[in-house]
Amino acid sequence: MDPGTTQDAARITPAEIAALRRALEIAADPAVPLGPNPRVGCVLLAADGTILAEGHHRGAGTAHAEADALARARELPGAPAALRGATAVVTLEPCDHTGRTGPCTQALLEAGIARVVVARRDPNPQAAGGIDRLRAAGVEVVGDVPAELAATAAALNRGWEHGLVHARPLVTAKTALTLDGRAAADDGTSRWITGPAAREEVHRLRTTCDAVLVGTGTARSDHPTLTARRPDGTLHPRQPLRVVMGTSEAPDLPAVDGAGEALHLPTRDPSAALATLFDRGIRHVLLEGGPTLAAAFLRAGLVDELIVHLAPTLLGAGRPGVADLGITTLAQRLDLELVDVASLPTPGGARDLRLTLRPRTTPTPA
Ligand SMILES: NC(=O)c1ccc[n+]([C@@H]2O[C@H](COP(=O)([O-])OP(=O)(O)OC[C@H]3O[C@@H](n4cnc5c(N)ncnc54)[C@H](OP(=O)(O)O)[C@@H]3O)[C@@H](O)[C@H]2O)c1
Repeated sequence: MDPGTTQDAARITPAEIAALRRALEIAADPAVPLGPNPRVGCVLLAADGTILAEGHHRGAGTAHAEADALARARELPGAPAALRGATAVVTLEPCDHTGRTGPCTQALLEAGIARVVVARRDPNPQAAGGIDRLRAAGVEVVGDVPAELAATAAALNRGWEHGLVHARPLVTAKTALTLDGRAAADDGTSRWITGPAAREEVHRLRTTCDAVLVGTGTARSDHPTLTARRPDGTLHPRQPLRVVMGTSEAPDLPAVDGAGEALHLPTRDPSAALATLFDRGIRHVLLEGGPTLAAAFLRAGLVDELIVHLAPTLLGAGRPGVADLGITTLAQRLDLELVDVASLPTPGGARDLRLTLRPRTTPTPA
């Protein structure tokens, strides 16, 4: 991102880079709910680069990260003088509007903060403008942060940002496939196509999404718990909403202590399902199949990202990974852009591949 690099005479210092790493870490606190609020971290540094205080946003109605850090700094001996001339390192542009709390820009200016390091501009038109406001008040703003940290800051609020732009949740479709593109054998069995590393990755992915979604077909055949578990079977601290979609009766998802709430959406309309979830504050949906539901979302143009775990194994028959897309000739094919490929170790030496793909927005060159 570029929060105004052309005006940045100053460069980020090693102490500020370390502080930004820390701010990103606390922003991602798994105790903080996902949903319609951004995750934000702030670290305040004294002129000599030592940490004065840190803070983070803990969800709707709680203090913003900057206000949280400033409040902690004010509890220190020597405050508020220690804050005069201090640096605020933030993962997201300080807001410049009054919502449930006052503008963070004002709080930083009143505290006498002289320099602000910002990892990502706020895409929310209502809250943006913080960088300009701070600069106009004479604060030095540094936006040129290392690319790796800028990418982490962007990834932190992917669903939230997507919601601001598209007014629907971000949809990541995930599937486990054999080399010949099968999602299940002829008898419906699909556990397990991939090895433990891929499955562990799926559980981690679930913790970063607000909701996990499957069709009634998968609910009936697999009885999935749709929880996010560690390899030892214990639950991760953050659990997604567990959603089953389809018009028929589906068996209740297995009851698990500490699991996310279970929800049945009695519809076959992907847009309507996403609208309902968006209204509930859901900003990132993990679509875990099966093939019929995946095809419905792909046909509707409602898959933003596809994660395929590809196992080096063949079935020769069984359910294809994606059901009928209504494509009858090659020219109508749905091309995907390959964003990333990684191999995942499995016991015994065989390796699954993880492919990350995005639907192409421009046609593939002939
Ligand atoms: N390898 C993998 O990653 C993976 C992942 C998941 C599942 N699976 C396997 O996939 C198989 C189940 O496949 P499936 O295709 O039957 O499951 P599915 O896609 O989970 O469910 C299909 C059902 O969803 C409902 N539905 C909701 N929206 C729909 C829409 N827009 N269009 C059509 N139907 C819609 C329909 O039921 P209603 O009549 O209720 O509307 C439909 O029968 C199982 O063998 C399972 O093990 C594999």
